[in-house]
Amino acid sequence: MQALIDKIHDTLRARTSEGRVADYIPELAKIDPAKFGIAIETVDGRSYASGDADEAFSIQSVSKMFTLTLALGKVGDALWQRVGREPSGTAFNSIVQLEHEQGIPRNPFINAGAIVVSDVLLAGHQPREAIGEILRFVRFLAEDEGIVIDSKVARSETATGFRNAALANYMRAFGNLHHAVEMVLGVYFHHCAIAMSCRQLARSGLFLANNGINPLSGFRVVQNERARRINALMLTCGHYDGSGDFAFRVGIPAKSGVGGGILAVVPGLASVAVWSPGLNAHGNSHVGSLALEALAREAGWSVFSR
Ligand code: DON
Repeated sequence: MQALIDKIHDTLRARTSEGRVADYIPELAKIDPAKFGIAIETVDGRSYASGDADEAFSIQSVSKMFTLTLALGKVGDALWQRVGREPSGTAFNSIVQLEHEQGIPRNPFINAGAIVVSDVLLAGHQPREAIGEILRFVRFLAEDEGIVIDSKVARSETATGFRNAALANYMRAFGNLHHAVEMVLGVYFHHCAIAMSCRQLARSGLFLANNGINPLSGFRVVQNERARRINALMLTCGHYDGSGDFAFRVGIPAKSGVGGGILAVVPGLASVAVWSPGLNAHGNSHVGSLALEALAREAGWSVFSR
């Protein structure tokens, strides 16, 4: 496995210049596009890493897996009255479908859906408390108290997040946000600004590869059925309108972020995180997707065969 990820890293590092770093969040535009890391954690306790796997980066939308898990823990299936479970077929920040569907976002991973999830996590508290709860959950999953929020990234997005403000206001008009828009966006921007390394991210995803139990601590995070469902949502919606292509090429559940990170789950076997900041046209890591495609092919990983 170590030789395989070193080979994939070596082969693909030359292609990191092919993608485009996200620049609509000014702080993210400063990232060196040549960064490239891969980390694998297996459910039986082995770790492998290659390249910049220990450098923290902005996890952005990968955090939506954590907030979805927390929100399901809080309100259970009632969440599905406010957020759908279908692939959107539109960009992660699109507003068009919200008008047709009365302010109910298609799924919890597009921005609109994750903003509703942030509203659920607020639950009458101050943003600071909800943000603290999310951060504690991520630290607990990764067994790492050193994980922090990059406040520069959070500030940068707060200053420029006009589309998200539009989505939030639009959903509030339909009654699908219960708190003030600024408070909800405060939670949303801060969880997107969590900084983690590939190694930390891979550890935090292990519970999804292990039927809901974190094999590092032995703690049950969610029931097996819920882990399966979160994986299903990652497979169908984790890469926005690139989800079908990702399932076709890679074939395992995964969640991407505009920071260039992708967290992927191989049920029963492993959790994998990759990071390469250059994005493809759908806003997903270009080389990160290629690395996962090569890894899944070489290792024989797929949820569609065994
Ligand atoms: O709201 C945004 O636009 C970002 N905080 C997160 C978007 C994102 O990561 C989409 N992922 N590919």
